[in-house]
Amino acid sequence: LMLTGLAGMTIPLGLTACSPSQGEFAPVGTVPLPIPPLAESEVVDGVRTFSLTAQTGESTLIAGRPEVSTPTVGYNGAFLGPTVRMADGESVRVAAENRLDVMTTLHWHGMHLPAEMDGGPHTPIEARSTRTVEWDVHQPAATLWYHPHPHGETEEQVLKGLTGLVIVDDEASRASGLPDEYGVDDVPLILQDRFLDEDGVIHRVEGDNALGTVGQTLLANGVSGTEFSVSAELVRLRILNGSAARFLDLSFADDRAFSLVGTDGGLLTEPVELTRLPLSPGERAEMLVRFAPNDRVELQTEEPEIPGAGFAASMGDQTAGVFVVFRAESSLASARAWQLPPDGRRQLHEEDAVRRREFELRMPFLNRREMDMERIDAIVRVGDTEVWEVTTPDAFPHNFHVHDVQFRVLDIDGGKPPVWLRGWKDTVPLHSGQHVRLIMRFEDYTDPAVPYMMHCHLLQHEDSGMMGQFLVTEDGAGPDRIALPETGG
Ligand code: C2O
Ligand code: CU
Repeated sequence: LMLTGLAGMTIPLGLTACSPSQGEFAPVGTVPLPIPPLAESEVVDGVRTFSLTAQTGESTLIAGRPEVSTPTVGYNGAFLGPTVRMADGESVRVAAENRLDVMTTLHWHGMHLPAEMDGGPHTPIEARSTRTVEWDVHQPAATLWYHPHPHGETEEQVLKGLTGLVIVDDEASRASGLPDEYGVDDVPLILQDRFLDEDGVIHRVEGDNALGTVGQTLLANGVSGTEFSVSAELVRLRILNGSAARFLDLSFADDRAFSLVGTDGGLLTEPVELTRLPLSPGERAEMLVRFAPNDRVELQTEEPEIPGAGFAASMGDQTAGVFVVFRAESSLASARAWQLPPDGRRQLHEEDAVRRREFELRMPFLNRREMDMERIDAIVRVGDTEVWEVTTPDAFPHNFHVHDVQFRVLDIDGGKPPVWLRGWKDTVPLHSGQHVRLIMRFEDYTDPAVPYMMHCHLLQHEDSGMMGQFLVTEDGAGPDRIALPETGG
């Protein structure tokens, strides 16, 4: 593991936290939905090797508005990043270069990998330097994502554009018959909102509501006002809610049903028919949608119906809107037969859990303490199954994300979780007053010095301290405090 290059000074990316006014930019017409390119890779000595470079650029985020040019940041481009595709069983290496003037990190959200490779706050990539990580992919097919995770700076860097998808493939998913032609009938959809000021500049906004930055510009793969040309009867959407604070409530404008076939950690064993799908920041979903020739239908988000949400003001202005219009061609490739593969993972049973831990998310703390980079909040023994109970007394929602593992939701307030939360998950919504019990097993990787994170994935909450750190060690013992990462090169 190497940290190379010159040290950089830490200067802000230029976002402000005052109260700018939001520009009224409606798309003028539509543009084709951009499909993030697949990241190029090379197999070197049996290791699939990728390069991702964080860099600045200028982007047109709104269809038909070339005059609105937005300063952005992306990986290998001006905004967002390429889709990094890998297979279970492969060894991968990623050289992450930071061409920015600020420190960043590169976190693999949803990936099961050693803490040192996970890209959390303890593994900085200093300005103008490169960090190379390597691991063996050891998990079933899934839609994951990558984003920066520098403590206190995540919202700013993600809003600027640092987000990309990861697709993990495996034998079972390849044999499933599910649509798999990338960008044609297997379509990545990074859904995000942005607060743009009157000049089209991206802002983070503090103190405007309880959740963080919510904006009225809805982007699909980085552009507002897109249209996807459907050429197949059956289309698989791989959706990421990549927003900082917006709770999506997705549906099609004609209320057509779709099949949920995958959640954060991979495919379900049975499809679930839905007409609406709530998705909190950081969560993913894979769905299958059927189209008839010449169909035209919008994928929209409704104002979320959040149980217990105190008052609208605490949620920000999460108004309804359209992310992308699907327009089917006059003749469509016919759907082939598909079947979801059986779940090859070890199933988790509550009676096997050896420990129960409690987490309370109360603004702005996790368990009444503010995130401290030097403090270890939990130490887990590798191989153990644990139950984590998460609650919030706040009047507004949070969510909860755990690094390294995929968990199951045992119950919510003592009852069965809704059907869309019954698969493998790494992020779960947490509504006001709710008590959510999760079961997870920590496998393979130990490190007595580098922690994984658990936190609220509302990025402003995470940045302001609603995050904790856990170690996974051989014997479940370890230090209470650890050294800060070395910075400055
Ligand atoms: Cu998506 Cu700790 O992050
Ligand atoms: Cu939160």
